[in-house]
Amino acid sequence: MRAEILRLLRQNAGGYVSGEDISKVLNVSRTAIWKHMQALKDEGYEISSHPRLGYCLQTVPDLLLPNEICPRLTTDFIGHSIHYYTTVSSTNNEAKRLANEGCPEGTIVLAEEQKVGRGRLARGWFSPFAKGIWLSVVLRPKFPPQEAPKCTLLAAVAMARAVRATGVNCGIKWPNDILYNGKKLVGILTEMNAEMDAINYVVIGMGINVNTDASEFPEELRDIATSLSSVLGRTVSRTDLLIALLHELELLYTQAGEEGFSPILAEWRKLSATLGQPVDVFGITRCFSGIALDIDEDGALIVQTEAGLEKVIAGDVSVRAKSQEEK
Ligand code: BTN
Repeated sequence: MRAEILRLLRQNAGGYVSGEDISKVLNVSRTAIWKHMQALKDEGYEISSHPRLGYCLQTVPDLLLPNEICPRLTTDFIGHSIHYYTTVSSTNNEAKRLANEGCPEGTIVLAEEQKVGRGRLARGWFSPFAKGIWLSVVLRPKFPPQEAPKCTLLAAVAMARAVRATGVNCGIKWPNDILYNGKKLVGILTEMNAEMDAINYVVIGMGINVNTDASEFPEELRDIATSLSSVLGRTVSRTDLLIALLHELELLYTQAGEEGFSPILAEWRKLSATLGQPVDVFGITRCFSGIALDIDEDGALIVQTEAGLEKVIAGDVSVRAKSQEEK
């Protein structure tokens, strides 16, 4: 009902719509309309009312409200069920809870702020109020569990496409960080629940630093993190970016289901900021250095070391400045 009211108000952008007209179109009482207007105001919409003229939408809050997202979605299923929170511990935790309860594929969890945002390798994720996109998407892919890491690469490609469309020439650091000039714009945390031979669900958690000012990052992140607004020198619409991201994600996910992952891996390679670079690898059991050569068909990173080729399935990689001999 509120989405419909907003649609009518927007149709008359800047003008008034009478309570009587709204109640006729939506077939509800004027008292009900008045109550919905109050609820919209409570959400942060500025709506002026005039005894004779009716209601006029003045401003829309800078929040990722489902009412702002749903009417603009271009997807067939991703984002068709939205769980929106002002504050949450972690959208990934919430998405896993919903997935365990059987929520439909494509369900998304969005929060303006995360109190305990989680990163890869048990790190935290800085998630200040209304500054970024803190999003988790529930997928139920048909492919086998060992192919799940490819979902992460797929998400990174979708993300890179959406970020590049804002004008930021970002790259992907293996497996799925989105960087600009070596600083992190986006982090992706994929979590899976599976049987031996089938995936129950995958939750892709994405954190995008959209409008965080450099000075707002905690001291320890200032040298390693950045935001789209810092790079572009202007505020970026989080709603526009979210809609573009969900569109790209669904496009690639559908493509992977129909054609396999090869085209996605090929695009990942083109967008990579890691391949061809000297890297330090911090694996689960050991650390070593070498040159990042390629990713294999499972998404593992192939590194040329002095001792030969190494395959990195999990862990962290940092791109090293080239030494004199390597230049
Ligand atoms: C990383 O780079 O370490 C991954 C960061 C992932 C952060 C996102 S924000 C939304 C979702 N909810 C979480 O708790 N984490 C992910």
